[in-house]
Amino acid sequence: MVARVIDGLAAAKEIRQECKARVNKLVQSGIRPGLAVILVGNDPASAVYVKNKIRACDEVGVHSLQFKFPSDIAEEAVLKKIEELNRDPQVHGILVQLPLPRHFDLSRILLTISPEKDVDGFHLYNVGGLVVGNTVFPPCTPFGVLKLLQSNNIKIEGQNVVVVGASNIVGKPMALMLMQQDATVCICHAKTRDLAQFTILADILVVAAGRPNLIVPQMVKTGAVVIDVGINRLSSGELVGDVDFAGVSEKASYITPVPGGVGPMTVTMLIYNTVASAERVFASGE
Ligand code: GUN
Repeated sequence: MVARVIDGLAAAKEIRQECKARVNKLVQSGIRPGLAVILVGNDPASAVYVKNKIRACDEVGVHSLQFKFPSDIAEEAVLKKIEELNRDPQVHGILVQLPLPRHFDLSRILLTISPEKDVDGFHLYNVGGLVVGNTVFPPCTPFGVLKLLQSNNIKIEGQNVVVVGASNIVGKPMALMLMQQDATVCICHAKTRDLAQFTILADILVVAAGRPNLIVPQMVKTGAVVIDVGINRLSSGELVGDVDFAGVSEKASYITPVPGGVGPMTVTMLIYNTVASAERVFASGE
């Protein structure tokens, strides 16, 4: 079997076009969606991610505001900025780029963002929403994976799903979202013994472990759908996922490439959540 490669760039482009049309409609009604991005410190990867997010805003007509703080800034100053943005009617989404410097209390920062503007979906209220199945903002990366599965008409209901990686940003919300779609979900993580005995059962395998070549063909069931969320920079400079793409492509029915798979969807779903937030404000007549 040779897998069909899921084109994340094409799917992202389509959703961005849809977002652009929705932004135009909002603008005609007097609302321009606004996203505020807070970046603390000078982590080079974070700077690139933020740049991509701002560029995506520009592309669809979302107004973006950027706030950069030095890494030694007091937590209180960032909290104050978040509170200010919570009150700003022109801001519909607030995002604090992670990771934060070590002296920050992450949970305090995330709890300060208004749940109605938490377009990353990291506030406890939104995490709780995921558990009971009525999230305001689904977290962007797993939301992007779900959209990729849906846009390729991949059946989720009743399927065995194995999620490798149990992070708060990807693995745990991914598992909850797929459970909500009536999949049978198993979560594996760094301490799982004999990973292959789980992955081999997966009809849909989602891998977000951050380890190149973690998933090799012997660990994959013939015909499985393989979604690679990993982004790893090898010493050669090459960007790869967590899955042996060439090998697994010969066994899977569908596979996402890295780059060009899940990656473009993450930023797109951030924009999608921001537009949805502005629409919610408009619908409530505030
Ligand atoms: N750092 C890595 N992924 C993310 C994300 O999805 N959102 C934010 N805010 N920071 C991140």
